Amino acid sequence: MTDRMAAERDGTGTGSDIREWNAASYHRVANPHVDWGRAVLDRLPLRGDETVLDAGCGTGRLTELVLEQLPRGKVIALDQSANMLDQARASLEPRFGDRVVYLHRDLLALDREPKLDRAVDVVFSTATFHWVRDHAALFRALLRVLKPGGRLVAQCGGGPNIAAIVERATAILRSDRYAPFVGDWPGPWEFADPATTADRLRAAGFVDVETGLVHAPVTMPDAGAYREFLTTVVLGTHLERIHDETLRREFIASLVDAGTGDTPPFVLDYWRLNLQARRPTAAIPAARHGK
Ligand SMILES: C[S@@+](CC[C@H](N)C(=O)[O-])C[C@H]1O[C@@H](n2cnc3c(N)ncnc32)[C@H](O)[C@@H]1O
Repeated sequence: MTDRMAAERDGTGTGSDIREWNAASYHRVANPHVDWGRAVLDRLPLRGDETVLDAGCGTGRLTELVLEQLPRGKVIALDQSANMLDQARASLEPRFGDRVVYLHRDLLALDREPKLDRAVDVVFSTATFHWVRDHAALFRALLRVLKPGGRLVAQCGGGPNIAAIVERATAILRSDRYAPFVGDWPGPWEFADPATTADRLRAAGFVDVETGLVHAPVTMPDAGAYREFLTTVVLGTHLERIHDETLRREFIASLVDAGTGDTPPFVLDYWRLNLQARRPTAAIPAARHGK
């Protein structure tokens, strides 16, 4: 475990919560993520020989689609979850062999990877950045690995993403029985708005910045599918904190009950934040900084 990971575990860090995922379940149920990811890939014309960093590759379902566009290129599939990365390797290695490098790393620790400095043509990322709370540090880390002129094309949750679930989960966790487990934990996510994100990208040194929100609600077919999706995809970090099996069950049951009562039931009100930017081709002349 890195120092930062240790800091996160004891609550002193500022980045994402370090956690493991149920990769088998995620691989099976994260179908909305594949649809969203396809739309992100459509915004990313590739020559076919680039090196692409898939930042938070998860189980590799989108990584596979990136690789299909890169017959002469390669992908660095990076994730901080060993389970997710193992699943990605199992599904990608037979087909793509050594065109994929698997990196078990925290995105915020990229500055400790000198070999990756200016190494990639494209940073591609889907459904990951909102799990990293310190976006300023994240964008600085991503700029660093891009070659001059390299592109960032990404999407994550943003704005009012899953607001009803956030509100319901927060209300439950504020009750006395849950307080010992969550204290004043701010939650795992940074759902930033487009303007703030554009400012943060420019502050990190990106140019040609474009950001925007899209509404992408998803309806689960029934209570069982809704429960699994909440458990695996949305609220894993919450559940990990509640060290009491009965309370964990009650927490999910309350949210499934609330979703059952919605009209229509089992809707996940997703909002996706699109981000696009470029590392400047050359160093910005000192005069432009007013020096
Ligand atoms: C919802 S999954 C998305 C996976 C994949 N990109 C997709 O769209 O299906 C989020 C992934 O981001 C990873 N992740 C979150 N914070 C991270 C960090 N700081 N460094 C590296 N990976 C991170 C998680 O481990 C998880 O695999």
